[in-house]
Amino acid sequence: MVGATATAAPTRTDEPVLATVTFTVNGQRRELELDTRTSLLDAAREHLHLTGSKKGCDHGQCGACTMIVDGRRINACLTLAIMHQGAEITTIEGLGQPDHLHPMQAAFVKHDGYQCGYCTPGQICSGVAVLEEIKAGIPSHVTADLEATPQVTEAEIRERMSGNICRCGAYSNIVEAMTEVAGARA
Ligand code: FES
Ligand code: FES
Repeated sequence: MVGATATAAPTRTDEPVLATVTFTVNGQRRELELDTRTSLLDAAREHLHLTGSKKGCDHGQCGACTMIVDGRRINACLTLAIMHQGAEITTIEGLGQPDHLHPMQAAFVKHDGYQCGYCTPGQICSGVAVLEEIKAGIPSHVTADLEATPQVTEAEIRERMSGNICRCGAYSNIVEAMTEVAGARA
């Protein structure tokens, strides 16, 4: 080609780049040597064998992978594990135990907030974080008065939980469970 100049080909390797990641998962300090491309979800499922968080879509569209990281819910499939050095991570396995359920887990059982259960770990982690968001006064798209403290209403719950898809359609029971935990209804 006229005028073309030779440039050095970029160096390329198929070898993974590894990094050490240290964080606290469900109260335990964990250190992993990971390919830097490893998502937080894969780190939990494939390396720590915490398979409660589900890989529904791996594209941030279903919420099945939701975990609580430093008090905020996160789609673990959309974030790299190495971005969470030193973080406090809670998965469904750390919220409660079969003989000592977290109040949100107990409410899901009581209100039949699931059918197949696939979305449930993400729904419960999200539900816990959503109630904290409301308590902290963080508004949502449906909060009418941005200067008032948001209330736990069905509209607020449905809006804030809209990133958690349930193919079984347990939505109304999930709303009931969350409402009970919030103490908004007996
Ligand atoms: Fe993460 Fe669907 S698996 S949002
Ligand atoms: Fe089956 Fe939600 S309980 S997908």
